Formats: sequence, structure tokens, C-alpha cells
Amino acid sequence: MTPPPAGAPHRLPRHVAIVMDGNGRWARKRLRPRTFGHHAGQKAVRNAIEFCLRRGIAALTLFAFSSENWQRPEDEVGALMELFLKALDREVDELHGHGVRIRFVGELAAFAPALASRMRAAMDKTAANTKLMLNIAVNYGGRWDIAQAAARLARAAQAGEIAPDQIDERSLAPYLCLADQPPVDLFIRTGGEQRVSNFLLWQIAYAEIYFSATLWPDFDAAAFEQALADYAGRERRFGKTSAQIAAGNG
Ligand code: FPP
Repeated sequence: MTPPPAGAPHRLPRHVAIVMDGNGRWARKRLRPRTFGHHAGQKAVRNAIEFCLRRGIAALTLFAFSSENWQRPEDEVGALMELFLKALDREVDELHGHGVRIRFVGELAAFAPALASRMRAAMDKTAANTKLMLNIAVNYGGRWDIAQAAARLARAAQAGEIAPDQIDERSLAPYLCLADQPPVDLFIRTGGEQRVSNFLLWQIAYAEIYFSATLWPDFDAAAFEQALADYAGRERRFGKTSAQIAAGNG
């Protein structure tokens, strides 16, 4: 996918990616178990999707479960799986009705067959929708993504489809998750931590990064709007100088 020209007035991001952090702390503040926070987080997911539909954002990528999250206590992992299953059963038809294309990105094979097959069914059902591309990263890691892309490209090289010395960024890019979508313009992390945590690594090379102290369950339309306003005020230079951008040589 071609990046937008440097300096182009893309005041509204086409692609927003979010690390939805803070569910556990939100629950703890209410003296409730962490899973209570994840349930509240699910409502915030719904709000974020509705917000993107309303504002005409083309793609939304959510980090729902990282490759590292398997290390959480067994009951929390189990509760999250249950929550994903129920959310799929409850929400897919409505999302489909709104023209949302759902895609799960990550190693789906690691999930229980019932959950993996529901994920595949949701992707198949909504595959032709175009209003919003909703990508849900599950059992995903940015390093895993780059490694799986490299492995697939190596197989293409082995099959004689590309010579190893022709391999460059452009030949690797199509093998990465989300290669068919606009580049990530805005990367949001809620919950106050300021790190990327192995989410999209390749894909955020030129993303604007926005850290919000708001815990994910409290990340409402006003908070999202604030992130967009912050984004709209950024100067995106893509390696060029301010003067070049001002002169329209972007
Ligand atoms: C991080 O907060 C959150 C997660 C690891 C899970 C995200 C899941 C949801 C928002 C639920 C619903 C999602 C979908 C797609 C239906 P944390 O638990 O690390 O919070 P903490 O940092 O306060 O402990």
C-alpha cells in the first residue's frame, strides 16, 4: 500500500491502531476482579467501533490478546477466551449489518477449535464489507509477524520466485499482516504506559503515537476525539524537512 505523500493534509487518520490497556487497574479501583475490567473493556471496544464508523475512519486495529498474554493466570486467560466467544456470538451479525469487515490477525491455530472456527466464520461472513476494516489482533506479536513474513518470503525464494539478492523492504511488505490496508496513521495506547509492547512494529514505522492516561474502559468518544485533535495538529514529515513540507514538496 502506498503511503500518503509527506505533508499531505490527512487530518483524519485512515487507520488507527489501539493498545487497549488499563482494564485490570480500572477493576482494581472498584475493588473488583480483573475480569470485571475486561467486560467493561468490551463495551469500550463497541464504542470505539461505533466512533470509527461515525467519523469515517477506514481501518481500526485493536490489540485484544498478545502472544505474551498466555502467561497471565489461567482463570484470566479462560475468562478472556469466554468473553471473545460470547462477543463473537453476540456482535458479528450487527457489525455485518453496519458494513464492518472483521479480520483476526495472529496465530489463530493456538486457540480452541470452537473459538478458531467462530473467528473464521466471522471473517468469511464479513469479507465483502467495506465500511470499516476492523482488525482484531489475537495471539499476535509484531516480531512474530515479521518472522512469519520472512519465512513465507524465504519459501518464495526457494521456489525460485524471487532471487535472494532482490529481497528488499518492498518485497517483504506484502507478506506482513494488514499489507492490503492503509498504513497505520495513528497509534494509541491507553492506560498511561508509554511503550509499544510488541504490537504492530513494521506497520507503525511512520505512525503518530498518542499515549493517553485514560484507562481503556473509560476511553469514550470524547477521549477518542481528543486523540484525533492531537493527531490533526501533528506535522507529518516522513523524513523530510518542515520547509519542504511548507513548500509543498512533500
Ligand atoms: C489490557 O489491560 C487488556 C487486555 C489484555 C485484554 C483486552 C481485551 C478487551 C478490551 C476485551 C474485549 C475485546 C474484544 C475484542 C471483544 P490489562 O489487563 O493489562 O490492564 P492493566 O494494565 O490495568 O492490568
